[in-house]
Amino acid sequence: MHSDDVARLEPGHQREISEGLHARFAEQFGRRADGVWFAPGRANLNGEHVDFHGGRCLPMALAHGTYVAAAPREDGLLRLRTLDPGLDDGIQTVSIAAIDALVRADAGEGSAGEVPPITDVHSIVPGVTSGWTHYVAGTLWALQQLGAELPELAVRQGFGADLLISSTLPIGGGLSSSAALECSAMLAFVALATPLGEQNPGPALGAALDDALRARLAAACMRAEVEVVGAGTGGLDQTVSLRGRADHLVSLDCRNFSVEHRPTSRLLGEHTFLAIDTQQAHWLGDGQFDDRRADSEAAMRLLGADQLRDVLPESPHLGDVDAGLARFDTLTGGAEAIEGRRTSACRRRLRHALTEMLRSEQLDRILGDEKLEPGAGAQQVGHILDAGHASMRDDAQVSFPAADAIVESARAAGALGARLIGGGFGGSVLVLVPRSREDDVVQAVHRMCVEQSFTAPRFLHVEPSAAARPVG
Ligand code: GLA
Repeated sequence: MHSDDVARLEPGHQREISEGLHARFAEQFGRRADGVWFAPGRANLNGEHVDFHGGRCLPMALAHGTYVAAAPREDGLLRLRTLDPGLDDGIQTVSIAAIDALVRADAGEGSAGEVPPITDVHSIVPGVTSGWTHYVAGTLWALQQLGAELPELAVRQGFGADLLISSTLPIGGGLSSSAALECSAMLAFVALATPLGEQNPGPALGAALDDALRARLAAACMRAEVEVVGAGTGGLDQTVSLRGRADHLVSLDCRNFSVEHRPTSRLLGEHTFLAIDTQQAHWLGDGQFDDRRADSEAAMRLLGADQLRDVLPESPHLGDVDAGLARFDTLTGGAEAIEGRRTSACRRRLRHALTEMLRSEQLDRILGDEKLEPGAGAQQVGHILDAGHASMRDDAQVSFPAADAIVESARAAGALGARLIGGGFGGSVLVLVPRSREDDVVQAVHRMCVEQSFTAPRFLHVEPSAAARPVG
C-alpha cells in the first residue's frame, strides 16, 4: 500500500487561504471584501451529550476551520455562497426580515401566514446539502437579539452582507463544521455591522473581544442553531470555537459555561491526537440526536433534577453513578415506559450521561495536575477514551459499525485510546497515539476500511489551536 492512497486533510496556510478568498470574492461579487474571518472546528476529549445536562466538556479548537470573506450591504439582504463542492449551489439570497418572522412564528407570535417568503433558500430537511444558509442567517438574527441588550454589539439598521465561505473541515464530519460556520459569520457581522467592529477595525477586533464578550457571542451562535436551524445543540461547539486557545484544552463547565484552559503539553509529552473522519456524514437536524436527548431528559425529570449534573456531587466517584442509577430503578418501579419512552433506553442514556460526566471530572483532575510529568497521564487518558467509546456505543447508542471498527483498528495499531466524538450517527473518531506510531495507525485504519468495504476515511492531525479571529 502506498501512503498516497491515504486521504489527509490539511489545515492549509491561513495567509494563502485568506488571499485566495479575497480574489474569489472580487470575482464573485464584483467588489472588494472588507476582510476575512476564521473560526475553528473542534475535537472533544470527553463530554459528549452532556453539555445540555450541565456536564463538563474537554474540547480543543482545531487548526482546521471555516473562513468567511465579507463586505456589507445596506438593503437587509444576505447574499451567500459557499465554495464547498458538496454544498455550492451558486449565490443564495436570504432576507433577514424573513428569518425574524420565521422565528417569531415558531415561537407562536404571529401565524405562519405572516411570514414573508425566504428567497432562494433551501428548506431544512435531513441531509448535508440543505439548510446551510440558515446557520448564517440565524447568526445575524441572533446578533441582532444580542445587540438589543449590548449597545456595542447593536446591528445597524438595514445591515446586510455579501459572504463567500470556504472550509478546511469535513462538512458534517462531526468536527463542528456548523459551529465554525456560525462563529466565523458572527465575527464578520460584528466587524461589519456593530459599533465594536467600527471602533476596532481589522485585526484589532480579535483583542477587543474579551472572554466575556466571546461567551455572549457563543451563546448567540447557539441560539441561531437552536431557534433558527432547529437543532438541539448544547453550546459546546460554539464555546470552544470562540474561546479555545492554542496548545490548550478547554475545560468547560456547562453549569455556567465557565472556562479554564488546560495545557496539552503535560498530557501529551511524546503523544499526539489524530482525528479520523469516517466520511459517514452526520447531521443533527434529522431527529436521532433529539431523540437521545429526550430519553435522557425523561430520566432527569424522573430523578427530579433540573439538570443531570446535579445528580452527581461536585467531585463524583463511581459509587455516585451507581447510586443515581439505583434511584432511577426505584423510581421507575419496573414500569416499561416513562413519559411514553422505553425505560431501558432512558436508563442507558442516563448511564451514559453520568459516566461521561464522571470521566470528564477524572480527566480534568489529571489535566489540572501541575506535578504531572509530560506524558505521564497518557495511558490513563487512553483508557478513559476507550471507556468513552464503549459508552457512546452501548449506552448513548450513537455509534455505527465504521466508527467501532476504526476504534478497534487504531488501538490494535498502537493507539493508547480512541473514541467517537461529537453527536454521533456519523462523524469522527479521536485517537491518542504516540507520535512515533501515528503513521502506523493511519495506515492500519486505512487498510482495514478498504478491506472491510467502509468508505475510506480522512485523517486530520489535531493541533490544539487558537479561537475564532480576523485573518485578513
Ligand atoms: C453536537 C452538539 C453539541 C453537543 C454534541 C454532543 O455537536 O452541537 O452541543 O451536544 O453534539 O456532545
